[in-house]
Amino acid sequence: MNEIFPPVAINTEAPPAPAHPDGARGPLGPASWYARPAARHWTAPTAPPAPTAAHAFHAALPDYAPTRLVELPSLAAELGVGRVFVKDESSRLGLPAFKALGASWALHRVLAERGGATAGASGAAEPVDAGAGVAAGPAGTEHGPIGAAAGPAGAGVVAGAAEPVTFVTATDGNHGRAVARIARLLGQRAHVFVSRGVHPEAVAAIEGEGARVTRVAGPYDLAVREAARAVEDAGDGPGAGSGSGREASPTVLVQDSGRPGYERIPGWIVEGYATLFAEIDAQLAAAGAGAPDLVAIPVGVGSLAQAAVTHYRAPAPDTNSGSGSGAGPGPALLAVEPEAAACVLESLRRGERVSVATGDTAMAGLNCGTPSSLAWPALRAGLDAAVAVSEARAARAVRDLAALGVPSGPCGAASLAGVRAALTGDGAADRRAALGLGPTATLVLLSTEGPAANPHGQDTSAHGESAEPHGSDANAYSQTPDPYEPDTHPYGPGSTPHGPATHPEA
Ligand SMILES: Cc1ncc(COP(=O)(O)O)c(C=O)c1O
Repeated sequence: MNEIFPPVAINTEAPPAPAHPDGARGPLGPASWYARPAARHWTAPTAPPAPTAAHAFHAALPDYAPTRLVELPSLAAELGVGRVFVKDESSRLGLPAFKALGASWALHRVLAERGGATAGASGAAEPVDAGAGVAAGPAGTEHGPIGAAAGPAGAGVVAGAAEPVTFVTATDGNHGRAVARIARLLGQRAHVFVSRGVHPEAVAAIEGEGARVTRVAGPYDLAVREAARAVEDAGDGPGAGSGSGREASPTVLVQDSGRPGYERIPGWIVEGYATLFAEIDAQLAAAGAGAPDLVAIPVGVGSLAQAAVTHYRAPAPDTNSGSGSGAGPGPALLAVEPEAAACVLESLRRGERVSVATGDTAMAGLNCGTPSSLAWPALRAGLDAAVAVSEARAARAVRDLAALGVPSGPCGAASLAGVRAALTGDGAADRRAALGLGPTATLVLLSTEGPAANPHGQDTSAHGESAEPHGSDANAYSQTPDPYEPDTHPYGPGSTPHGPATHPEA
């Protein structure tokens, strides 16, 4: 149980209904929409731990530059709001998605600790994760930028660090490539477990970073479990260690999703994502736009959305976002998921973290069945709304953003698809009211990947049909959302795939 997030009112009314038939303009069924307007009046009881340090770290990287925030007046007119901005993450630290923000900061933190770093802004002399030891070694630089000492990114992150490690992770595309890239730049190794449905070009890109790739014949949650098992088989525990095992070097699990007992490294990844929101604050101010009224966030396991909640619901009004105690309500935060994998929406509806059985979706990076345990308390308390979008809506958004000069993959374009689903069509007036949006509202849509990250977006026809329609089991849900528990997970032996949601918050 995460003590810093007190219990809040939850919506547990109706059981889930099947997703509505796919269509770019169909009405939103009860399984596709959730709202809890009180969320934007909620303030986190404590300030986020280290976003400033992560931002400073990123700002010192050789490849760093803030990504674009693009204003699109035609979308504002279409949606009946004042201004619409799109945060374009199609080029971030040399990769075509935002994920390197988290991976770079997390790998840096891990290596700094393994190098024996002592005091720093984030205080760090604890083990890397529960139950895992940290190799002793000469002092490293807790916040020294990657590459600052040695030219190309990564060469000098932790002077005197112990022997190289193998960073192990599961991915539905972008996180794995980011871990592989950063590991390579740091002179480390990476072993990436890739789930079913990731585009072959995305898999090839991970291999192209020099990573060992293991293809998993199942969904993301299974890949997560297999990556964790690989680290345990190596004798290194869930977070880090120094065993030798089957890998050539000690292994460290760097997963972007928390589970009970494994939350510290995911927490660093979330800290890394904060840079994106700090950039938005500055860019909106520069555009004379002030604080946003709504931020739309593509959601997989919910770590990026956790970063959004942490940023916009911070207690101190020092984020320039209009959030924080005494500064009035923050923006409405809208989570957008594929209908094929709406685990956060379903968890919000049920008031507890649940797993869903996922189908196929072109939104590969969002194809996750279980919310992060670390993110869940923040999502439950701080998200205003969640919407599940069809493949057709996402495909149309990819095309429309491209026509407006924003190169977006299906996950990135999901933000526009979600906002359109929420603000237009049957029942839109009620949904606008729930989101607190008037005709002068400012919207920020996170476009979290470019087409190069996830070429699924280029597989769509001009009529909005996806090359990979989602499976018929979309929105089925199950108990026991811990993907690390093979005896109870829906994809593991002894699973109970469609039982009632009874998972207690751990
Ligand atoms: C492009 C893209 N957008 C959004 C997300 C969602 O992030 P999270 O899993 O933290 O919810 C991902 C996750 O991999 C992604 O790759």
